[in-house]
Amino acid sequence: MGSVYGRIFRVSTWGESHGKGVGVVIDGCPAGMELCEEDIQRFLDLRRPGQNKFATPRKEADRAVILSGVFEGKTTGTPISVMVENTSQRSADYSEIASYYRPGHADYTFDMKYGFRDYRGGGRSSGRETIGRTAAGAVADKMLREIGIDILSYVRSVGDIEINSFDPAEIRQNPLCMPDKEAAEKAGAFLEELLKKQDSAGGVVECRVSGLPAGLGETVFDKLDAELAKAVMSLGAVKGFEIGEGMNAARLTGSVNNDAFVMRDGKISKATNHSGGVLGGMSDGSELVFRAAFKPTPSISSLQKTVDRSGKETEVSVKGRHDPIIAPRAAIVVHSMAAIVIADMLLLNMSSRINRIKSFYKEIIPG
Ligand SMILES: Cc1cc2nc3c(=O)[nH]c(=O)nc-3n(C[C@H](O)[C@H](O)[C@H](O)COP(=O)(O)O)c2cc1C
Repeated sequence: MGSVYGRIFRVSTWGESHGKGVGVVIDGCPAGMELCEEDIQRFLDLRRPGQNKFATPRKEADRAVILSGVFEGKTTGTPISVMVENTSQRSADYSEIASYYRPGHADYTFDMKYGFRDYRGGGRSSGRETIGRTAAGAVADKMLREIGIDILSYVRSVGDIEINSFDPAEIRQNPLCMPDKEAAEKAGAFLEELLKKQDSAGGVVECRVSGLPAGLGETVFDKLDAELAKAVMSLGAVKGFEIGEGMNAARLTGSVNNDAFVMRDGKISKATNHSGGVLGGMSDGSELVFRAAFKPTPSISSLQKTVDRSGKETEVSVKGRHDPIIAPRAAIVVHSMAAIVIADMLLLNMSSRINRIKSFYKEIIPG
């Protein structure tokens, strides 16, 4: 089912929305890194439902338990297994949807593929699957921070309302994770109106990564931007991925879009960053900037046309507990996917030059 990502830093997520729990196995995390459940919990708390009026009222503790791979507070180099118990299952909320296909969801496609599906809360295609990714992202992020790589993600727009200013301290001060207080207030009022109409909105999450060395990423199929696009597009509800100028690059001229190389503090640098930090599939040493477009939450309680499993047309109002917007809760999930991709790329990149391999083995082989 494509539940595994990465070549060296390798994560496998498991679990369904209304099964006993969800989680992840992380293989390839280097030994000796300090790690505790609180490191993972901090990330999960930013994704957790039920925290404000724009997030699903489904109240889950989402407590992370590390089952393996950590001893005396440090990673052992063996698989790290993290589990989160599902404590707020209300399968009865979903019993009705077993018979029909919810518009905008994976019900129809799961049935066509497997002929059978766990219909409770979307099963494997539920947003709860991202708990495993977020836990793995917390571990990857810890590794990245040890070497000075910092990731920041936030909501850039809600519907048509876009940020006009950027204050990183504001991101966690408003329920929409926007770095612009005024835009967050406007977006809040817009969502209140949509809630009254039993409708939902989409939004764009932007992610910035600083401290990356130049040269990360493989040169053909496994380019850094290609890997990021795959990782981010593999999240439910993501319908677009852009890096740097993204779609807008097609409207620019070469003389505008090219980033001039300049010397800054004795180092090769770029005067602008239209590339978004990637050239030829490899990090170019400037800030990595990418965006993910999230569609409006498909579960809405207003009436929608659909078809049931027997082929009869019907109308549905999707009950249960759902976010009127996905993007704010998904900001930490996008951050996590970026951390997983970059951790994997960093480890892969270590074998790119013979002199680096020689100096590594010289250090550990006596004589
Ligand atoms: C973090 C996260 C939370 C989500 N929460 C919800 C939700 O509460 N209600 C809902 O209808 N869809 C939610 N989704 C989106 C659906 O899982 C997704 O739209 C659906 O599986 C169909 O897949 P597609 O949109 O990629 O085609 C969420 C997605 C993510 C990444």
